Amino acid sequence: MGLLNTESEESLASSVKIAPSILSADFARLGEQVCEAAEGGADWIHVDVMDGHFVPNLTFGPPVIKAIRGVTDLMFDVHLMIERPDLSIAQYVAAGADLITVHVETCPHLHRTLQQIREAGLKTGVTLNPATPVSALEPVIGEVDLVLVMSVNPGWGGQSYIPYSTKKISDIRARLDAIGSEAEIEVDGGVNESTLREVLDAGATVLVMGSAIFNDKASVADNLAKYKGIIDKQT
Ligand code: DX5
Ligand code: ZN
Repeated sequence: MGLLNTESEESLASSVKIAPSILSADFARLGEQVCEAAEGGADWIHVDVMDGHFVPNLTFGPPVIKAIRGVTDLMFDVHLMIERPDLSIAQYVAAGADLITVHVETCPHLHRTLQQIREAGLKTGVTLNPATPVSALEPVIGEVDLVLVMSVNPGWGGQSYIPYSTKKISDIRARLDAIGSEAEIEVDGGVNESTLREVLDAGATVLVMGSAIFNDKASVADNLAKYKGIIDKQT
């Protein structure tokens, strides 16, 4: 099973993708920053939704997603860090999400919540916090389009990569290979020059990058070009 990119359906594992996280963007210029990422060659846009309950921080919800949906056709990869996501899936679908990722920790009826996302015509993602074992994915791993490995405790951008995440990525890669799944493995948190190689070697195919792409050191386009160059050399 493959995720849709803008043009055509392709095997998710066929190339490495960069998904800039707009959590680190300048919110006063959010639309512009999404455009800069799209024009700079971002593959997806990673949208971090936080509710102030499941995670301590509070970001934005469907109205803001709907507002930026108009500025690009890139895939919107919506990461829901909210309690009871099943109650608001329809609103994220209406706002223009293409893929919705939910946390195993927030879904008492995980199988049903994923079914709800799939039945709405979207791609499904499942994720787990750093302290949640990979075994929590076992009942659903065969039916999702993407597994997201949180490599920091969710809440803020700019945190350091938790080294144990690498073992989780390789365990998930082995499990997906064993069942013949082409689901993506996305890694979220602390992905930058120092950790990128390790993450790719372990089997990641989508890199969420927040502070590495949106920062004061260089433009969004220059940062994207830099990381694309590193990935091209590596793969
Ligand atoms: C963390 C978010 C991440 C975050 C990544 O709670 O889910 O997407 O923005 O930011 P960096 O790349 O700065 O670690
Ligand atoms: Zn995220």
